[in-house]
Amino acid sequence: MAEEIIKKNDLIYLILDNRRKWLVTVEEGREFQTHKGIIKFDEIIGKPFGSVIFSQPYETQGYKFYVLKPLPSDYVIYMSRKTQIIYPEDAGLILVYSGIGPGSKVIEAGCGSGALTCILGNYVRPNGYIFSYDIREKSLKRALSNVIKANLKDFVSIQYGDILIDDFEHANVDSVVLDMPQPWKAIERIKKYLKFSGTLVSFSPTIEQVKKTTFALQENEFYEINTYELIKRKFQVKENATHPEVRMIGHTGYITFARKIKDVRNPYREKKPKQDEFVELNGMPLRGDEK
Ligand SMILES: C[S@@+](CC[C@H](N)C(=O)[O-])C[C@H]1O[C@@H](n2cnc3c(N)ncnc32)[C@H](O)[C@@H]1O
Repeated sequence: MAEEIIKKNDLIYLILDNRRKWLVTVEEGREFQTHKGIIKFDEIIGKPFGSVIFSQPYETQGYKFYVLKPLPSDYVIYMSRKTQIIYPEDAGLILVYSGIGPGSKVIEAGCGSGALTCILGNYVRPNGYIFSYDIREKSLKRALSNVIKANLKDFVSIQYGDILIDDFEHANVDSVVLDMPQPWKAIERIKKYLKFSGTLVSFSPTIEQVKKTTFALQENEFYEINTYELIKRKFQVKENATHPEVRMIGHTGYITFARKIKDVRNPYREKKPKQDEFVELNGMPLRGDEK
């Protein structure tokens, strides 16, 4: 495969070291100022992704910067944000468990800073689309600016819309993705936008939200309702000192998935087989030997 050459208006991932990294757009004739010198974009244009560049003035600065093509996980961590964003590991789980991919049509609420929007937008290319809604003007503005920065404007719309009260014109979308405070209140309404077999995804930071959402999904006859939590550990790899990093993010959120089904009554097994009686004591299930 041919080398990918950096063009004007490309988004690049500029790295000085482990702590100093930036996501910037290559603007012809302009420069990027850092405390370790100036990066002139015209020097980057025409080089392949994966090159290095030295900061100017060379005599007094001359630091080495690496120029990489940004990955979806880089968009998320380094994009401008004000709301709590989805972390790349959670976004990865969302992608594989929702089936969102090339060609998918997806409704998202709320877009927040647009972190998840950008990841989803990146994966539905070349012929899919993300219809993203929010009720806060500040979120809409920030998300739109992040979507433009990520060059995803052709695959994403960012619009005002309240998923709890507005009636959208959507039908037969592949997935609905919710990251908002009261997702359970949206379940009945979003069901009509989803195609049969389509996926509902709900990201919530607390178990109380998960329970309410799960019960709402059950009441609305969703199927395959499952909730997961991911805990990511990064490793420091050094001679005789390889171990998990001492500091880590201990909690991001819980992700609930469900499928819309076209249910019908089973005419062949009218009577349900008798199930074992479930005994409770003050709400706590008894162990088998205590029954
Ligand atoms: C935690 S943020 C979403 C973050 C986003 N997933 C990201 O990765 O950047 C939650 C957003 O939901 C929006 N929101 C709350 N209620 C909503 C509703 N009824 N309809 C649409 N958006 C809503 C809020 O305004 C807020 O911007």
